[in-house]
Amino acid sequence: MGVGERGVLVSGNWKMHINHFEALKLVQELAALLRAQALPEGCAASVHPPFTSLRTVQTAVETDRVPLALGAQTCHHADKGAFTGEVSAEMLAKLNVRYVIAGHSERRRGCGETDEMVRAKVDAILRHGMVPIVCVGEDADERASGAALDRVRAQVDAAFDGRPSAAVAAAVVAYEPIWAIGTGVTATPDDAEQMCAAIRAELARLAGPAAETTRIQYGGSVNPDNAAELLAQPNVDGLLVGGASLEAASFHAIARAAG
Ligand code: PGA
Repeated sequence: MGVGERGVLVSGNWKMHINHFEALKLVQELAALLRAQALPEGCAASVHPPFTSLRTVQTAVETDRVPLALGAQTCHHADKGAFTGEVSAEMLAKLNVRYVIAGHSERRRGCGETDEMVRAKVDAILRHGMVPIVCVGEDADERASGAALDRVRAQVDAAFDGRPSAAVAAAVVAYEPIWAIGTGVTATPDDAEQMCAAIRAELARLAGPAAETTRIQYGGSVNPDNAAELLAQPNVDGLLVGGASLEAASFHAIARAAG
């Protein structure tokens, strides 16, 4: 096990959990753990609170210089306008958000986000100097019928075709098989590696050698017991963690698992 030259990014997707009081407590707990045991060289971590906690987490992280990057869970593709209830990438950038998740399967399914909408969000994230974490992944039927690879390639193409190679190099892709999210069923390290390698090959077809620099995360029922084995795969450069990121000790253990 070790950290490859791309470095490792472990991201905690808090989803619709944790109000801003609880967010402050969680960041303070994480800060204490990181002071006691820092992340291994070459490893970074981001936290993705709900919008209502972003400002609180930003202040806590910046005031105490906690080594956590600020992330968001989604954004709107437009910079401003009559979009009631939405939050723009421009607004997130003003809060020093660094990473924005685009196309999480829960939004693709629950909010009707299409590949085209995800591409437009990636445009907005890049326009405002942030890094997209583009989620891709097949559902259980697609895996059973052998359509997983085609599905994932199509999602990668929709988000990245025609992008400058520098944008592809700096981006993050999260492979999250839908059947593994929140189910306790993790992809085997081999399955994760196979798909992450296929994603990198597709990125290389689109953008050439820049794909060697793109960080590819695995997500889906990651926990402190399976993190190290997943991170040991050559094409797994990080993890996108849901449930296990809501507790400081488990997220800290996962973020340290590449060491
Ligand atoms: P999980 O969620 O770790 O709870 O499976 C992962 C995700 O949806 O990003």
